Amino acid sequence: MFAVLPSLALLTDEQVLKFDTQAFPLNEMTAKQLDVGVSTISTGKLHECALHLGIVPPGAAASKGPWRHLVQDRWKHNPHRSEINSCYLRWLKEVIGPLMLAKGETEMWYSTELLIRFHTPCPLSLQSPPPPPRLQDPSKNGSTRPYGKRKGVNRRGISTKRHSDRDYGHPSGELNVWLPLNDHAYGTNSLFRDRKPWAGEGSSRPFDLRYGEYVLWYGNGCPHETRMNVTDVTRVSFDFRVIPGTLFEERGACRTFDCRGTYFSKMLL
Ligand SMILES: [Fe+2]
Repeated sequence: MFAVLPSLALLTDEQVLKFDTQAFPLNEMTAKQLDVGVSTISTGKLHECALHLGIVPPGAAASKGPWRHLVQDRWKHNPHRSEINSCYLRWLKEVIGPLMLAKGETEMWYSTELLIRFHTPCPLSLQSPPPPPRLQDPSKNGSTRPYGKRKGVNRRGISTKRHSDRDYGHPSGELNVWLPLNDHAYGTNSLFRDRKPWAGEGSSRPFDLRYGEYVLWYGNGCPHETRMNVTDVTRVSFDFRVIPGTLFEERGACRTFDCRGTYFSKMLL
């Protein structure tokens, strides 16, 4: 007889939920961290600010390139980092904690590092239709790559290639949290994910979320990707993972994600 773990329901049912933006002013704290005005993030104009600061060359493909590293550097090394980290821990405890408690959990594991993601508009020069796939070359064992030379990011303006997190060794008990910091994440500035792990690429749709909402979803098994951002909005979002205590493997297949690694930290509820 198998024991049924109530927390498994968290993995199977995608949920869009809300949090109190007054109690957790995440966009304001992020703006402070990046040293930009909050409206720059809210209105999705971070790319214009970056241009103004001279860290995006005019006409550059803004979804990839050194400027993203510069913004990431600001994120990682700003002196306000501890402030947003303590807000992150409080958010986990007060927002996610009750969901876990409701499933009978007494502890959870969470991403030690809060990740920030950007998806910037692609310059107009890159928004023309992509070239057709190459003709199949029989001398290369039948394999073709549609366009572009880089393995993985093989279409222009795409910052995250299609994948499931399990492809990178993430443990199957993980639950993804995705939370936009700009006013509205939608269409091609958002993240596309398949409806279910088995639903196929045809079911792929972007998250459509407002600031103050977040989604719990199963990125471990549901393939996801970004597409060329043809909106004029830079999406800024938080991306992290939680594991209910009963689903955490202390000795898993990949030590990075179990007790021996630093990717996850434990929180008592
Ligand atoms: Fe992912």
